[in-house]
Amino acid sequence: MTDPKRLLADFRRDGFAVVPPITPHEIWAPLTGELPSVLAEEGPQRFFEEDGTSVRAVYGLHRRGGPWQALAERSPLTALARLLLGEDMYVYQWKVNPKAARRGERWQWHRDFDFWRATDGMPRPAALTAAVFLDEVTGENGPLRLIPGTHTDRPEEPAPSGGPGREEGDWAWITSSRLAYALPDPSTEELARTRGVYEATGPAGTVVFFHGNLVHSSGPNRSPHTRTLALISYNAVSNAPPAGHPGARPDCFVNHDAKPLPVEGLRAVP
Ligand code: SIN
Ligand code: MN
Repeated sequence: MTDPKRLLADFRRDGFAVVPPITPHEIWAPLTGELPSVLAEEGPQRFFEEDGTSVRAVYGLHRRGGPWQALAERSPLTALARLLLGEDMYVYQWKVNPKAARRGERWQWHRDFDFWRATDGMPRPAALTAAVFLDEVTGENGPLRLIPGTHTDRPEEPAPSGGPGREEGDWAWITSSRLAYALPDPSTEELARTRGVYEATGPAGTVVFFHGNLVHSSGPNRSPHTRTLALISYNAVSNAPPAGHPGARPDCFVNHDAKPLPVEGLRAVP
């Protein structure tokens, strides 16, 4: 049983909260069944590792319906996200990162909000992500690493640090193993030393909720076990990016329909 008060206290203090597998298996397990066809689908929503063959990320799952929609919009996870965000919300971004066995690469230290502001013009970091483990995550297969307390820092808007070029229609800069808004290693290592790093491991079905401003990363996966994460990002309706923001990502990446998810039943936290 998850104590919602404790979760909220963890989330407010640390910027993340870890929930053991409370979402019923019947709700998240069908995703693993559909995953091979999701990864096989060609299109701009799909990105590869630098080896050119292993899928690194697939966006746009808010358009898929079925079990993808059920997990994001009508599950115990939805209720918890609503509780932690504390406002009417909608699914902003829904993606899968299938960090492939032996081939999956790192995600550098970053704040998601830096990308969401730079791409879509999100006004504030009033958003959070539910990372659902679709595989067991261990210390060996590239777990998420989170620096507690960094969600309340308000750093200057960073300049892009590099990564792939930004030709029109090429979105590799948001998702490559050389991220455009990666945080500089020396200052982040210092941050990690002083505040500590939490490595999020656990069985399939575990959920980590983390704040849109929280500093996080993950290492490469050299183990024989794939580490698939389902990453559902919820944004406050009051924080929807302005329509027509120049350069905003198309619907195959993010949802532009900021209609609030129905709250009926969602306040009933398990
Ligand atoms: C992310 O930062 O979007 C996810 C990183 C990961 O898949 O480990
Ligand atoms: Mn991220």
